[in-house]
Amino acid sequence: MRALVYKGPGARQLEERPKPSILQPEDAIVRLRRTTICGTDLHILKGDVPTCRPGTILGHEGVGMIDEVGSAVRGFGPGDAVLISCITSCGRCEYCRKGMYSHCLDGGWVLGNRIDGTQAEYVRIPHADFSLHHIPDGADENALTMLSDILPTGFECGVLNGKVEPGCSVVIVGSGPIGLAALMTAQFYTPATLIVIDPDRYRLEIAQRFGATHVLAPGADTVGAVKALTDGRGADVVIEAVGMPASFELCEELVAPGGTIANVGVHGVKVDLHLEWLWSHNITITTRLVDTVTTPRLLRAVTARRLEPAALITHRFRLADMDQAYDTFGRAADSHAVKVIIEVS
Ligand SMILES: NC(=O)c1ccc[n+]([C@@H]2O[C@H](COP(=O)([O-])OP(=O)(O)OC[C@H]3O[C@@H](n4cnc5c(N)ncnc54)[C@H](O)[C@@H]3O)[C@@H](O)[C@H]2O)c1
Ligand SMILES: [Zn+2]
Ligand SMILES: [Zn+2]
Repeated sequence: MRALVYKGPGARQLEERPKPSILQPEDAIVRLRRTTICGTDLHILKGDVPTCRPGTILGHEGVGMIDEVGSAVRGFGPGDAVLISCITSCGRCEYCRKGMYSHCLDGGWVLGNRIDGTQAEYVRIPHADFSLHHIPDGADENALTMLSDILPTGFECGVLNGKVEPGCSVVIVGSGPIGLAALMTAQFYTPATLIVIDPDRYRLEIAQRFGATHVLAPGADTVGAVKALTDGRGADVVIEAVGMPASFELCEELVAPGGTIANVGVHGVKVDLHLEWLWSHNITITTRLVDTVTTPRLLRAVTARRLEPAALITHRFRLADMDQAYDTFGRAADSHAVKVIIEVS
């Protein structure tokens, strides 16, 4: 089969690899129909993710069809159409039983990281019963591919952890795929004010189309502008969807007394926590690695067309054109890419 392989920092290659086979009775082999590229894949390629060793097939998102299942798999069989969760979960360990699949003692984020991933014609999915979801026949596979990672991430780490409520004010810092996923799913709760901040004008235009009430480029007066839109208080919910010291520190300045900063961004360096003023503001700061516990609900919302994540897809490629797909996704500021879809079969 063809697969996109991480070859060490700065290097990747489309290669011929053996088709995966069942290693454990709980495994399933999925033939990919659609996959996509995540910002995290770019982090791996920069060498920022040491758990991903050279030789690993990249990718942790996708939709496909079951090719084969191990003897212990109960919920799926050959020919079933499935959504692959970016988080693998055994369903039995202490963390899984608390709904913290991201910390599963025999799973978590392993696909395209510790084990071969989804940017290939076939992938082996461990603990298939808990790590796959049935999808309806005839469903929009491109739209559902957005449910492997970015929709549950924006919803769980941003909207649910941030406690978005009807009539509240929300600021989302960062209008990339994750910030936009938070923007889409925040609207389940009808916040009154939904401000998106990003230096990229094109991404702000998208945010406006997706329901932001106000958009701002970060600058000298960002805090003043947000205060002016929130009766001088700041926002009840501030969602950090960038992962840099400057963007997190901005969140600290934007949160209203009693509010929540919901961090989604992956941080590579330390960030200052300004307790010299926040100590008295009754705020909450949350962090989370996506658990994908909300995937079944999001799947129903998409199937019922209450949520339209296909709108995030800006480019389409074939697996053979993976180089071009990475190049386009990696130059998002110039190419205006948000999510790219890879048609595998
Ligand atoms: N917690 C989790 O489980 C989880 C899962 C997936 C991704 N992530 C992280 O979420 C973050 C966002 O992911 P993405 O794919 O949308 O990334 P992205 O890089 O595509 O988007 C980030 C956006 O932030 C904007 N930005 C940069 N500096 C800014 C600033 N100072 N203020 C406001 N905006 C700024 C950029 O222009 C860009 O549009 C990343 O750090 C990613 O690693 C976390
Ligand atoms: Zn991802
Ligand atoms: Zn587990």
